[in-house]
Amino acid sequence: MSLVLSSLNVQTVLVGIVVILLVYKLCQRWKYKLPPGPFAWPVIGNYEVIRAKFLHEIFATYIKTYGPVFTVQLGPFQMVVLNDIESVTEALVKRKADFANRPYLPSLVKFSNGRKNIVFANYTPTWKLHRKIAGKAFSTELDDPEFQHLMKIDREFTEMIGKGFVEDMFPIMLKIWTTQKYRKITEIFEETTEIFRQKLKEHEKSFNRDNIRDFTDSLILARQEAEDEEDKEVISQLTDTHLVQTLSDIFGAGIDTSRITLYFGVCYMAGLPEIQAKVHEEIDRVVGKNRLPGVSDRENLSFTDATLHEVMRLGTAVPVGIPHSTLCDSKVGGYDVPEDTIVMINHWALHHDPNYWKDVDKFDPTRFLDEKNKLARKPESWLPFSAGRRVCLGESVAKPELHIMFASIMQRFKISLPEGTTPELEIAGGGTVAQPAPFKIIVEERK
Ligand code: HEM
Repeated sequence: MSLVLSSLNVQTVLVGIVVILLVYKLCQRWKYKLPPGPFAWPVIGNYEVIRAKFLHEIFATYIKTYGPVFTVQLGPFQMVVLNDIESVTEALVKRKADFANRPYLPSLVKFSNGRKNIVFANYTPTWKLHRKIAGKAFSTELDDPEFQHLMKIDREFTEMIGKGFVEDMFPIMLKIWTTQKYRKITEIFEETTEIFRQKLKEHEKSFNRDNIRDFTDSLILARQEAEDEEDKEVISQLTDTHLVQTLSDIFGAGIDTSRITLYFGVCYMAGLPEIQAKVHEEIDRVVGKNRLPGVSDRENLSFTDATLHEVMRLGTAVPVGIPHSTLCDSKVGGYDVPEDTIVMINHWALHHDPNYWKDVDKFDPTRFLDEKNKLARKPESWLPFSAGRRVCLGESVAKPELHIMFASIMQRFKISLPEGTTPELEIAGGGTVAQPAPFKIIVEERK
């Protein structure tokens, strides 16, 4: 009898929760004119979105039914997805800081030590300070074996963080039982944090403000300057934890995206001998073979630059960006977006929008050139680095650096596919990051 009663009670509670959620949803719909979207189950939301290997692929199917601005539901989270340049520009640029927060997800809070980083921090004065300091200097020690190890674990981290965690939808799990994926990523996070903490300590020991060696030294200098000025507020925002998180941010946000972009570049070149021949011809003519390409060559390597732009369009490294969140009630595309709504920017959709790109799937660098064959103004719907307050902090370093790396690879090597094979540009990796699936290429040194 007591068993029946308790099971009845459980059922009553569950039904009660479902009813409350339905009423809440109806009230939301009534109060706000939300963007349309597919039917979502209470508690779970849109199961096919949760299950999707790649969000941009499932979103592409929704665009056809609901248009470029739609709503999906992931567990308890309402998520608005923006899929064309008009809505993205309206949200990120015209509406100023309305869309500049980041969602409050337990996993993001944990893997940023309480949001003390840049990438997952809210739009606050602390975030502004960190962006300013980090934006001042970028450099790394590339042949360091520890760096290679960090690259490996960073890759695992990026792949795992992918579409987030079931623990974000049901935070109660964090107290009872966590998934294997969550436990593994926690280990990786703790290992990387420790490596960066050690790096910071080593740098502090040998720090000399007259000889700023790298990015870590710049962060230490910023803290010392705040100490000199006895600026208590700034000092409190530059603790070891903050600095370690910023180091980890620059590594996490910068290295993988650049590596993936170059992977895409090599993969596309392997399957496009004619484009590659044009790139080779331009580099041989402008730079020759006796020196490496430099930053100043970029303006004369327009076809090579345009090729890289096309690589970044078709091989969008961060297809659905990093989730934003609204810091107040706002609007986009004629719809309401309530405060604290998660907002995704579908960069992949922007890069494949047939209204902006002729023959969207064709690899054609000339789309980025003007009538004089110089790099033209950026096409409107090309937005790999996003826009507005949260625009990629590394854009100004990533573009010239990727150009130098791509041009240097092309100067020295001819890349092709083994006979009888076709390029395999499947997307691999975890959900929010797309990268080429491994396949064989032939690399020949150019004489
Ligand atoms: C191909 C290279 C890169 C691509 C495609 C890329 C793309 C992006 C995108 C799409 C975002 C999200 C923007 C948003 O929230 O709307 C972002 C954020 C960010 N990126 Fe990059 N990125 C690249 C390279 C870099 C590099 C080299 C660095 C640093 C050295 C970097 C540092 C950051 C940081 C710190 C953020 C977070 C900004 C914030 O939340 O305020 N990125 N990036």
